Amino acid sequence: MFSDRTKYSAAGSSAFNVSLELHSINRGRLCERLRKRHDVPEGAFVMLEGGKEESRYSSDTEDLFRQESYMHWAFGVQEPDCYGAIEVDSGRAIIFMPERDENYIIWMGKPYPPEHFERRYDVQEVHFFKEDEAKIVEVLKSKDPSVLLRLKGKNTDSGKFTKPVEFNGIKQFDLNDNILHHEMTELRVIKTDKEVDVIRHACCVAGEAHKKMMQQARPRMYELQLEGIFRGYVASRGHRHLAYTPIAGSGPNSAILHYGHAGSPNNRKMEDGDLVLCDIGSEYYCYASDITCTFPVNGKFTDEQKVIFNAVSAANLAVRQRAIVGNKWVENHQVAERTILTHLRDYGMLKGEVDDMMQVYLGGVFMPHGVGHFLGIDVHDVGGYPEGASRSDKPGLRCLRCVRTLEENMVVTIEPGCYFIDKLMDDALANPEQRKFINVEVFEKFRGFGGIRLEDVVAVGRDCAELFALLPRTPKDVEELMASDKPEQ
Ligand code: GLY
Ligand code: MN
Ligand code: MN
Repeated sequence: MFSDRTKYSAAGSSAFNVSLELHSINRGRLCERLRKRHDVPEGAFVMLEGGKEESRYSSDTEDLFRQESYMHWAFGVQEPDCYGAIEVDSGRAIIFMPERDENYIIWMGKPYPPEHFERRYDVQEVHFFKEDEAKIVEVLKSKDPSVLLRLKGKNTDSGKFTKPVEFNGIKQFDLNDNILHHEMTELRVIKTDKEVDVIRHACCVAGEAHKKMMQQARPRMYELQLEGIFRGYVASRGHRHLAYTPIAGSGPNSAILHYGHAGSPNNRKMEDGDLVLCDIGSEYYCYASDITCTFPVNGKFTDEQKVIFNAVSAANLAVRQRAIVGNKWVENHQVAERTILTHLRDYGMLKGEVDDMMQVYLGGVFMPHGVGHFLGIDVHDVGGYPEGASRSDKPGLRCLRCVRTLEENMVVTIEPGCYFIDKLMDDALANPEQRKFINVEVFEKFRGFGGIRLEDVVAVGRDCAELFALLPRTPKDVEELMASDKPEQ
């Protein structure tokens, strides 16, 4: 499978090959940036720790492993419990892998020699280390590094910190934790063409899986059966992991932004007349997709459902047209809000000037989340807030995961939504500043309606964005797709 060292092909897939140059290009970009910094001395090494194999305390069977994201970006190494080093001056790359004992051969199969991994991962050296990790120290000492640059930094979405590399004996080296996280995060913000190729593929396959869900949905199915259709399709195309907890929320559940969690595991029986919001994305080679389609379970929109669908679809298109170099993402969020408010006003649910509604943050009543985020090796990819940028405290805006000005080859989701969430409806009616724009009788009719989100992934371009998966985004197109290839009911 790996005889051609420039290609990667996931098990079971003949669909897409990834160029392993992806990682040497990333390492080259990193070294170039680091060499320009006056505070990185000659002889510096980047030192990363990969993800660990985990199991439950009560079991010796391993959880399905997925590589730590910065490690994947730099090395593409698939095995757990590895370390990676890069000599900044030369760009030479070294992988340290755990040595396997005889037991491993019986349970996990025959280990490969270092040359196999050198070829497979296109690195200059591979070394195996025993439990004491002395080999890592020995190899590094032979290179006489001036400093080891470690990855320490806060994720601006989760607030969690990366764990700087640790191994026995690391204290013998000079360590610096203040440079690497910033530099790698800035690089991950802009995707290379090789990375865009993988993300495009991930999204194309996920988009096809969404179409299968639409074609096979019918009343009295459980939400989880739609999730199953998605999982089956993407696995058959070599996608083993989903990129996040899948959401298949029907009826009122479509207004629960992150439905599908452990407490509500997509377990409702869908009824005739329901909408179902499917926000499901898979990963390929650790690169995410993130797509949402909302459609009527019975294949036919009601008039009210069409109104909200058209509002969200118009917002989606408006933002896509603005997903070009130089535009500010915060303004794109506001364009989505304005578009949705305008449609609701034209329908008669709202009254007054949209500019005035924006002044009292009425958009956040209907779309309480951000209009999109970076996507890459993480579904909510890193770097949405550059150093020094602050988070708004305003409804909707405070949930934005990205506040950057757009640059070429940023990859972003565009995911406007319009939801009828009791709590937010009650709050708006109790707020005189917002209530004055609301036609209460029409507004109240939408309690229990649920919500609609339409989410696509695009690469930012100079003149236009590239849309990775073409999905039906008008009621007519959705109905036509659902009517095609529909199984017997
Ligand atoms: N599925 C998570 C999101 O859309 O951001
Ligand atoms: Mn999503
Ligand atoms: Mn998303």
